Amino acid sequence: MERKHLMVFDTTLRDGEQSPGCSMNLKEKLEVARQLDKLKVDVIEAGFAIASPGDFEAVQAVAQTVRNTRVASLSRAMTQDIDRAYEAVKVGEAPRIHTFIATSDIHIQYKLKSTKEEVLERAVAMVKYAKNYLSDVQFSAEDATRTDTAFLYRILEAVIKAGATTVNIPDTVGYTTPDEFYNIITGIRQNVSNIDKAVIAVHCHNDLGMAVANSLAAVKAGAAQVECTINGIGERAGNAAMEEIVMALNTRADQFNGVYTNIEATQLYPASRMLSQITGMRVQRNKAIVGENAFAHESGIHQHGVLANKSTYEIMTPESVGVPTNQLVLGKHSGRHAFEDRLKDLGYTLEKEMLDTVFQAFKILADKKKVVYDRDLEALVQDKTMKMEEHYKLKQFVINCGNQMTATATVKLVNGEEMEEVSTGTGPIYASFGAIDKLVGLAFSLEDYSLQALTEGEDALGEAFVQIRGNNKKYHGSGVSTDVIEASIKAYLNAINRMVSDTKK
Ligand code: KIV
Ligand code: ZN
Repeated sequence: MERKHLMVFDTTLRDGEQSPGCSMNLKEKLEVARQLDKLKVDVIEAGFAIASPGDFEAVQAVAQTVRNTRVASLSRAMTQDIDRAYEAVKVGEAPRIHTFIATSDIHIQYKLKSTKEEVLERAVAMVKYAKNYLSDVQFSAEDATRTDTAFLYRILEAVIKAGATTVNIPDTVGYTTPDEFYNIITGIRQNVSNIDKAVIAVHCHNDLGMAVANSLAAVKAGAAQVECTINGIGERAGNAAMEEIVMALNTRADQFNGVYTNIEATQLYPASRMLSQITGMRVQRNKAIVGENAFAHESGIHQHGVLANKSTYEIMTPESVGVPTNQLVLGKHSGRHAFEDRLKDLGYTLEKEMLDTVFQAFKILADKKKVVYDRDLEALVQDKTMKMEEHYKLKQFVINCGNQMTATATVKLVNGEEMEEVSTGTGPIYASFGAIDKLVGLAFSLEDYSLQALTEGEDALGEAFVQIRGNNKKYHGSGVSTDVIEASIKAYLNAINRMVSDTKK
């Protein structure tokens, strides 16, 4: 059987970043880009260069940083967007300009207030304009799945003639179904005379929960590039999830006529965890491939079957997607070398200074915890490496609380100098957040708070997530500790520090 390579175009840093509360700073975007490089994605859409100076800087920095992957910037079908996109990606080894315009009647009439002829003319002119800069130009027909097919064929043929090397068929509003999408892609292959001169890409949103199924149906029909995000983050209900597409192809190769991706599947779980930590957007426990329960067998019958033979209830192994084993890894007497080796096995190579910091944190944790698991190590690394600029740093806290009394928290922070405040509340978290509010004196509100145990056992690490709203924007924060109040305070400060950094920009 002839094997066919399917290109993976990751848009976590562009469409993914557009999801509410998922914005990332430059350092975080670079961390994600490096992970995408490790995953061996074919294209990274690093942002929308004209959207803001921050976006421009991020696209440029990603293009400068990753060396094995194409880097694209999105641009509307406008000369000023394309100029900006090119300025940002040109420093990369393999730059791409991705230009788009809406093609459905609904969008043309109500959003663009234009006509089909004008849209076609603009699409062709802008592809030609982008071609003056570079050879790798992708054109997207926004809302393609609600576009009159005859017009879709015409515009695709015209942009390919103008030089587009990839034509993307987005299901912008997550409206299509697998059968329909299969037919749309087949129709394009049969009716666009020069389609063999371009790669057909698909970009599916998940409004009806079918983004992955639709993408895979398109692959069966001959699409050669899928657009996706880690954990399926993206506008509204999100985009097709990379981990699901990749593992469906790996696990059911028999169903996909030899189609394969270059994705290093063992990096999928680390990528998922990294993104959750950075964005504060946790994945649901039962999420396919990367959710906490994805490989857990609860019922007695299932456990019995798995013990007898894993293949009874396991269609893929946790190791194949990089889920850390729940084994005892190191104890408090473990040395630095063993620690460093274990981190390397988990895929982390740290600079000496960072290794020292994480090792110290490990020693403190190993003192508190009976058993240290891979997941604990992973949490420590992410907690230390992802740290924001710490405008406000926790020095100390004391809580007095019980079921028959009002909780009182005394919190000491460092912001150049030490400062201390006391506050009361209905519980210890409320009281400590109140003390921090008094200390920082900024206007914002708490929008979301959650806490989860990272591993089993009473002494497990707790991970807190917080979302605050200030300056009309959402900021998230995360924190880990064996003490859930400390984890919560750290998460709260992390979100506040993020807001302070953003307002100082
Ligand atoms: O969903 C969409 O249509 C998009 C395009 C810009 C590709 O994100
Ligand atoms: Zn999209």
